[in-house]
Amino acid sequence: MSESVDVVVIGAGAAGLMCAAVAGQRGQRVVLLDHASRLAEKIRISGGGRCNFTNIGTTWQQFLSANPAFCRSALANYTPDDFLTLVRSHGIAWHEKHKGQLFCDDSSEQIIDMLVAECDKGRVKRRMQAQVLALRQDGGRYAVDTQAGTLHADKLVIATGGMAIPQLGATDFGLKAARQFGLKIIEPRPALVPLTFDQAGWKPFAELSGLAVPVRLETGDGKRRGVFDEDLLFTHRGLSGPGILQISSYWEPATPIRIDLLPGRRLAQELVQRKQGSRQNLVTALGEVWPRRLAENWLQDRGIPPEQRLADTADRHLTQLADGAQPWTLTPSGTVGYKKAEVMRGGVDTRELDQKTMQARAMPRLYFIGEVVDVTGWLGGYNFQWAWASAVACGRAL
Ligand code: FDA
Repeated sequence: MSESVDVVVIGAGAAGLMCAAVAGQRGQRVVLLDHASRLAEKIRISGGGRCNFTNIGTTWQQFLSANPAFCRSALANYTPDDFLTLVRSHGIAWHEKHKGQLFCDDSSEQIIDMLVAECDKGRVKRRMQAQVLALRQDGGRYAVDTQAGTLHADKLVIATGGMAIPQLGATDFGLKAARQFGLKIIEPRPALVPLTFDQAGWKPFAELSGLAVPVRLETGDGKRRGVFDEDLLFTHRGLSGPGILQISSYWEPATPIRIDLLPGRRLAQELVQRKQGSRQNLVTALGEVWPRRLAENWLQDRGIPPEQRLADTADRHLTQLADGAQPWTLTPSGTVGYKKAEVMRGGVDTRELDQKTMQARAMPRLYFIGEVVDVTGWLGGYNFQWAWASAVACGRAL
């Protein structure tokens, strides 16, 4: 069976649905393909089932890319307010959590239903469980071979996302397609992902599993420096929590991360000042600034008896003890990988794409949108905002 349309969009996730809807409503005959049985699985599970669908504070500076200014145009032309207008027009109730993060009051399914309704408005034909066997150029058009036949299209949009959570249908399809058509790739890696440590070295901290503390985290330098004030969570294998997920996107293998365990305060100074006439032991003193378990563990790891009295501890030892925590410098051995990552960083090199339309410079009428592109947002609704904005930029150009 062979069919001819204006546009084929591959990937019915956040970006693919949005792009298909926009192009369809502009009169293009669009077919949207996905290999999964259910569309938009990542929207479904996002934000704990309530979808953190955008961030009202979005600027281009919350995104990582080898070409950082690339995302500016698309983000400026489709803003969080624009997406909110759409959300409101579908009567979806929402609320702001902290730091500008917007969530559905009820369910992420509402965002999916909204996008499907927008696709229906544009008469988009949706084909699920569609295995794409090959992509070809055929007489100036694109041919998409599937198990159900060949689709011929003037324009081809790749919206197959990144490789995070393969168990939900994530693949490297988009990267392979880019390579096939001669586009460069920025090395992909798991991002927004827990970090792991050498298991022998981590043993003492594994006991803290489940403990969360507010910290300042930092890694890298120059343009690749990331700094975040967020919570950190101890786990059996290493560190997680929002702060670690954020910093993981900036982390380069074999480099350290720096964690200030008492942000905004000077622990050394406080301990030395508190010594005068104090009857406290060290674990009680540290327990006033940290959770008791961390205080005990910190002293134990350094071979200091927890009952040692503050007043009996030399200033320089107190300073050493505190300096080790401000910052606590440690080098992760790796990440827990794509199985647990929220996104992929890297992807199609944006220098290969036109920033206004997402079209490949060297391949007319071939487009890449969403997470498959080397634009990776911080945690907090930024990745969906990029999916919407890049999709709309492309959809308006089709
Ligand atoms: P997306 O992954 O949404 O869609 C890609 C589609 O392509 C999928 O439907 C897939 O089945 C399909 N596909 C893949 N390979 C294919 C192939 N070979 N053939 C055909 N189809 C194929 N972001 C945010 O801003 N706020 C949030 O709350 C969250 N929460 C969150 C939670 C979890 C657990 C994860 C894993 C991720 C998030 N994210 C997030 C990130 C966000 O989900 C992600 O950045 C966007 O979904 C990316 O949109 P895309 O459309 O590019 O890919």
